[in-house]
Parts: sequence; structure tokens; C-alpha cells
Amino acid sequence: MVFFFATAGIMFQDITTLLLDPKAFKDTIDLFVERYKGKNISVVAGIEARGFIFGPPIALAIGAKFVPLRKPKKLPGKVISQEYILEYGRDCLEMHVGAVEPGERALVVDDLIATGGTLCAAMDLLERVGAEVVECACVIELPELKGRERLNGKPLYVLVEYVEI
Ligand SMILES: *[C@@H]1O[C@H](CO)[C@@H](O)[C@H](O)[C@H]1NC(C)=O
Repeated sequence: MVFFFATAGIMFQDITTLLLDPKAFKDTIDLFVERYKGKNISVVAGIEARGFIFGPPIALAIGAKFVPLRKPKKLPGKVISQEYILEYGRDCLEMHVGAVEPGERALVVDDLIATGGTLCAAMDLLERVGAEVVECACVIELPELKGRERLNGKPLYVLVEYVEI
């Protein structure tokens, strides 16, 4: 797969090739920062694993905390868990209890949206502790998998749509 950012004029094959180009990586982060700064977002929640690459630089730049949403049994403290269905079986995301306060405004970050199941679980976790999910932000969308339709009307912002040709 080759991805192309129309706005930034960047070509990359997967997110690791994007990361090899410091200017392209910075442009990617800057596009998110421009969109989310000044929006009173105090939580950037990154989904394991590649949400941990894009989430922290966005969080630092907009002055928000970074909250990792992890696979089961990775976080050392008390957690709340959210199961979700995958194509083949189930998976689960966990978040530390107390990491997010009721009423906080949160952004969910991942590298890619496919079927949307993981993003839904992430939003469920944040909403269960009383946070307001402002938006989900991903670098790449695979629109054919219709993940956007599963997000219950929550806004999704992506930089690149991949359509097989
Ligand atoms: C920003 O969000 C907090 C909740 O995290 C809220 O209490 C506060 O009123 C908001 N401030 C503005 C200016 O909207």
C-alpha cells in the first residue's frame, strides 16, 4: 500500500516509512496540532500500539496529558476494561482508573481506522469515566471497511484515505 497526503504532498508505504522522514512526520503532527490546539482538550488517549507514536507529540503540543489505552494486563495500576469484537474473536482495551476525570475533553488517537471496533472501545472507556470525546483522529482511513459508520456519529478526522485501485 502506498499512501499519499494531498495536502502535505507526502508519499509513504506504511507509517514506519512516514516516521523515517522527519519533515513528513512533523507535518503530520502539525496538521493534528493545528486542528486541536485551543479546543480545550485536556486528554489525548492513544491506542496501543501505534497510537503511542502519534498521540504523545500531539498531547505535548496542545498542552494535554497523554493517556495510554492498552492491551489487557499491561497497565500496572487499577484499570477499567472494555471488550470489543474483532473479525476473529474478541479483544480488550484497558485504561488506568483515575487517569481521566469526569467532564474532561478527550481526543482519541490511532494510526489507522479499519472496522472501527478499537476506536469504539476507546470511546466507550472514556465515556464510562465521564469524559467527553471531542473527536477521533487517525492518520489513515480504509473507507471500504466502513469503520466511520460504527462510531455512533462521533466525528472522525483522518489525513489520508486509502482506496484500492
Ligand atoms: C474546558 O474544559 C473543562 C473540562 O475539562 C471545563 O471545566 C471548562 O469549563 C472548559 N473551559 C472552556 C473555556 O470551555
